[in-house]
Amino acid sequence: MASTVLIVSASLLALFFFLHSADADVGSNVFSIQSYGAHGDGRHDDTKALGDTWAAACSSAKPAVLLIPKGKKYLIKHTTLSGPCKSSISLMVKGSLVASPERSDWSKETIRHWILISGVTGLTVTGGGTIDGNGKIWWQNSCKTNSKLPCTEAPTALTFYSCKNLKVEYLKVVNSQQIQISVEDCTDVMVSRLSITAPETAPNTDGIHITRSRDVEVTDCMIKTGDDCMSIEDGTENLHVKNMVCGPGHGISIGSLGDHNSEAHVNNVTVDNVRLYGTTNGARIKTWQGGKGSAKNIVFQNMVMDNVWNPIIIDQNYCDSSTPCKQQKSAVEVSNVLFKNIRGTSASEEAIMLHCSSSVPCHGITLENVNLTVKGGIDLKHEHPWTLEDVEK
Ligand SMILES: *[C@@H]1O[C@H](CO)[C@@H](O)[C@H](O)[C@H]1NC(C)=O
Ligand SMILES: *[C@@H]1O[C@H](CO)[C@@H](O)[C@H](O)[C@H]1NC(C)=O
Repeated sequence: MASTVLIVSASLLALFFFLHSADADVGSNVFSIQSYGAHGDGRHDDTKALGDTWAAACSSAKPAVLLIPKGKKYLIKHTTLSGPCKSSISLMVKGSLVASPERSDWSKETIRHWILISGVTGLTVTGGGTIDGNGKIWWQNSCKTNSKLPCTEAPTALTFYSCKNLKVEYLKVVNSQQIQISVEDCTDVMVSRLSITAPETAPNTDGIHITRSRDVEVTDCMIKTGDDCMSIEDGTENLHVKNMVCGPGHGISIGSLGDHNSEAHVNNVTVDNVRLYGTTNGARIKTWQGGKGSAKNIVFQNMVMDNVWNPIIIDQNYCDSSTPCKQQKSAVEVSNVLFKNIRGTSASEEAIMLHCSSSVPCHGITLENVNLTVKGGIDLKHEHPWTLEDVEK
């Protein structure tokens, strides 16, 4: 009995020291949004308070923490948080940031972004809280939902532009207006432990979008969304994706590359240990005719698919256009692609589609240990049974 008490009090002591030292560590360098006039009630506009807190934290000479406190909800309109900052900075989201539900809060100039973080070196975004794009009004007004409406742009919930040494971890990102997280022109990026969710019917809500970025790691994320779980676009180099759960959604996609006769390059991408549930695609590479450049040194391995429409697909004749795409002479070269240890079920009879270009045919494509059977049923369940823990085993 006595020894039990001792153990309990010893661990309480340890906990106390841990909290205490953590406090002492950050100490005066915590910049709480509450100290900059925020309401935190989810009704009043806290955009200015967020901007002011960022300005203070970003000009701190010592490593700074911008705190979004737990239990509070901050209504935020379009905002840009820019660097460079004087020191490293953590955006600690413990509570929630919620986007304004008014489309009129965005102008033609700002419509592509909700929260844009630009030009910061040594940024960590973490805290276990929620980033809520409040996207319903945007989905309802999308031409993909209602074909009578004109097609317009919508904000990406969280954009990282031109950041170096970036970490994004332990967050819930929900109901983005359009793309959920976009990493653009960044280097040395770690994205991990995110839960990303939007309804299957929410148009263009790609989970994690990566472009013009190098040395990127994405691990341990759970993505349920209305478009690609991950879209890997032009200019991605050295990307390692590991331990992911995806579905519903459109799967993990490299591309589309080479639209409007553009040049695109994707090099050295590994996608490892992924489960896909009821997605339209599994491992996909898609390029338009008429493009230039290359997608090469790509590995998709250790994947489990459950009722996926196109489990393995390379499409060099991709055409997402209202008018048919004409035959063209040039194409993005697709080479050195390995699909290895892929098993599970296909919802369609064509589990593997290699739709290569007739002018620049894909080459160096290897399929190794692939076992896919037809499930024969389109009755997709909307909740997948896996947790991240299943993947980590
Ligand atoms: C490919 O990318 C990985 C990171 O995903 C990196 O460790 C490796 O060095 C890269 N290979 C080459 C040849 O650049
Ligand atoms: C392929 O998977 C099916 C279904 O899981 C299984 O019954 C079969 O034995 C597997 N084939 C090989 C060659 O592993």
